[in-house]
Amino acid sequence: MKFPIFPNDNAAPIECSFFVGGTWGVTDRFFQVYSPSKGKVIANVAAADADVAHQAVEKASSTFEVWRRTTPYLRSELLKAWHAAMLEHIEGLALTISMEMGKPIQEARGEVRYAASFIELYAREVLRTAGDVIPSHAGDKRLASWHQPVGPVYAITPWNFPAAMITRKLAPALGAGCTAIVKPAEQSPLTALYLAWLWEKVGGPAGTLQVITTNDPVAVSKVMFDDARIRKLTFTGSTEVGKALYRQSANTLKRVSLELGGHAPFIIFEDADLDAAVAEVISCKFRNAGQTCVCTNRIYVHRSIANQFADKLGHAVSDLKVGDPLSEDTRIGPLVDAQGRDKALAHIKDAIGKGASVVAGGKALDGLFVQPTVLIGVTEEMLIMSEETFGPVAPLIVFDCESEVVRKANASPYGLAAYLWTRDLTRAYLVAEALDYGMIGINDGAPSTAQAPFGGVKDSGLGREGGPWGLQEYMDVKFVSTKLTRTELFNEEP
Ligand code: SIN
Repeated sequence: MKFPIFPNDNAAPIECSFFVGGTWGVTDRFFQVYSPSKGKVIANVAAADADVAHQAVEKASSTFEVWRRTTPYLRSELLKAWHAAMLEHIEGLALTISMEMGKPIQEARGEVRYAASFIELYAREVLRTAGDVIPSHAGDKRLASWHQPVGPVYAITPWNFPAAMITRKLAPALGAGCTAIVKPAEQSPLTALYLAWLWEKVGGPAGTLQVITTNDPVAVSKVMFDDARIRKLTFTGSTEVGKALYRQSANTLKRVSLELGGHAPFIIFEDADLDAAVAEVISCKFRNAGQTCVCTNRIYVHRSIANQFADKLGHAVSDLKVGDPLSEDTRIGPLVDAQGRDKALAHIKDAIGKGASVVAGGKALDGLFVQPTVLIGVTEEMLIMSEETFGPVAPLIVFDCESEVVRKANASPYGLAAYLWTRDLTRAYLVAEALDYGMIGINDGAPSTAQAPFGGVKDSGLGREGGPWGLQEYMDVKFVSTKLTRTELFNEEP
């Protein structure tokens, strides 16, 4: 393989191999990757089957025996080189992300920087994986805990952040001494291949990182779940699929990290700075055209400021430029596919049908584009209040008091991210403590950052990514008890 793979927008579809066993594999079976903005095929990608999956497991397992014995210093140096290579290739990677899943190019560059920041973080973090010396209960025993890599990892990654959701998993996995097999989403396998190519280019040993591209995920994943040598599953995606994978992981009792769906409330109290809140709702809700697990899906606005806020938000949203993701001034690109577009439109239609009013947008545009939309008068029985929209639709719900809004915010099976907007510090703390969510933004609509714990509670998942928590997900704790043959330092008579 040779990257960057998109020299220009009019290039003919390229042909891509999977990356298994340290080689760019050949096959006669391919699947197509579409550009959601152009609606045309941009790549034919090799489709791995169960046989290829077996080869990948074999290689991940034999390489693990060598890789686990390398020093954290060596792994850290490789991560640093991978990080530098990503930043050198920022334009190529951003273009690939933009082409394959429609993210506006400026945001795609931001994603590459965000993705690279996980690698940089873990290049440092891996040097701090010290164990503990444990106080002993017996004079002739010395106790310790060691941290060791869990083993080969299977990572299933989503299309909405095709670079960042890979590095957030792989940087700690590889840094800890695990080998990893990534199965990227069918919509966006090219970024994953690009990242693997960079890893290979900086000297990442064959078999440490493999990318298995496929349009038959069930067959490939079955091999991974049935094989006890794969010790860990890490998945970002829907709650429904996450639960099914959790069940499948039980047979071989794999360690599991699940970053699943969300339905984030964004609470705007009457004392909020409304202009600042509008700007943060825009970055929270409309980032990636609303195709983000942590983006708000319910905006609760205090009754006394609801009309004023709706007006300001409506104006700001109408100014967001919708269009070709490769144009520098585009803020809203297409949705990833017809299913995504239809769901967003169904939520708008259902809400209007049940009495909501459109403040901005509300319509389908050509192809996979949907106008960024603000709805007011949204109520509990509307679909948008229980399903994750994953599109550029901001529903406003009016509330009257703190206890009511906290109860409503918590009345969801999801518990990923929640946001609140107020100038009252006491209120901010008390409400943040009461919200049943894994992450809280206080006057902050975009809290994600590599060094912080990212993850949810309830139906939003298990485990944390980022910071030292993210590294522990790839390490087992081994208890070591040493019994001494004597207890005195000198056993000779004086
Ligand atoms: C996600 O949508 O799961 C990732 C968003 C983020 O890292 O902020």
